[in-house]
Amino acid sequence: MSAPNKSYDPVEVEALKPEEIERMRDEALAAFAAAGSLEALHEAKVAHTGPTSPLALANREIGALPPQAKAEAGKRVGMARGAVNKALAARQAELEAERDARVLVEEAVDVTLPHDRIPSGARHPITTLSERIEDVFVAMGYEVAEGPEVEAEWFNFDALNIAKDHPARAMQDTLFVQGPDKKAESEVVLRTHTSPVQVRTMLDREPPIYVICPGRVYRMDELDATHTPVFTQVELLAVDEGLTMADLKGTIEHMVRALFGEGLTTRLRPNYFPFTEPSAELDMQCYVCRGASAGDPERPCRTCSSEGWIELGGCGMVNPRVLTAAGIDPEKYSGFAFGFGIERLLMFRHNVEDMRDMVEGDVRFTRPFGMEI
Ligand code: PHE
Repeated sequence: MSAPNKSYDPVEVEALKPEEIERMRDEALAAFAAAGSLEALHEAKVAHTGPTSPLALANREIGALPPQAKAEAGKRVGMARGAVNKALAARQAELEAERDARVLVEEAVDVTLPHDRIPSGARHPITTLSERIEDVFVAMGYEVAEGPEVEAEWFNFDALNIAKDHPARAMQDTLFVQGPDKKAESEVVLRTHTSPVQVRTMLDREPPIYVICPGRVYRMDELDATHTPVFTQVELLAVDEGLTMADLKGTIEHMVRALFGEGLTTRLRPNYFPFTEPSAELDMQCYVCRGASAGDPERPCRTCSSEGWIELGGCGMVNPRVLTAAGIDPEKYSGFAFGFGIERLLMFRHNVEDMRDMVEGDVRFTRPFGMEI
């Protein structure tokens, strides 16, 4: 800013000459008219109305004029600035209106378009079947118990009376987990059955114990139409005073009827498991032919291969050595256990022919089972 000067003639101050002010105003108006977008207009606004714009700088010169010249120069600059601000506001409104009209067209939503092209998922039938089985037992007063899938060898084998040299421990059956210390001899496995949850439960709780343990188990198997290295077992454990094989059979028969239909029977076939004594294999009567296909070539049954029976799983009275290992007095209490794989159950209950369909997670497989909650 120049210093006040009594003999100062405003006409002589270059920036305040009328034609200069007019030029500045016209340049501003031309720049606003030329701005084709709100961004360009903003730039023009900064250039022509900002603190370093020619008109703002000219305005500053007024202060240095002698009093008699101030009014006239101030009026001239003020009018020019007024015209510039008016033009700016008008162009701003114009460009905003254009933008709003464009947005309405570009971002229009066609509410008549189909909205349901993204297919919804479905819960896996293994999950829903497992929960349905749990419901049957919860209704009988059982509780659901869970345990870790990465398990100590002691829980998976030793506590269950499976000797160190039992073939089930061999490398080809069991997946051993190497710890961070990379010791060659691992004592941690991916559980090969849900039976370790029996031991954990017995260590945790006092009898009477009535639990159902569903969960994933792992074995060294190929994945093909009839095998999978990961599958789901459900294990049943009851420990109380005076339990017998009759209680075991009655309980499982109730489950079979709840899942497959009234009136079906079960049968026990002698078997051996280290953790139960006596042990048995449990079969249910075929729910399709109800046993009629057995021995009748006229009535073949695909579900049970005309056997009349379907193998469900292993069971037995909990071995007293297992009760002792879990701190329960076998003189006072007895228990029964039952374990079965539910992939097989799903296969014959729903005619699933290939195990791989159950593990691949393709929604085309799961969707037909519906969205059961
Ligand atoms: N844990 C056994 C298995 O995986 C099944 C089983 C459970 C047998 C409980 C008897 C009692 O083969």
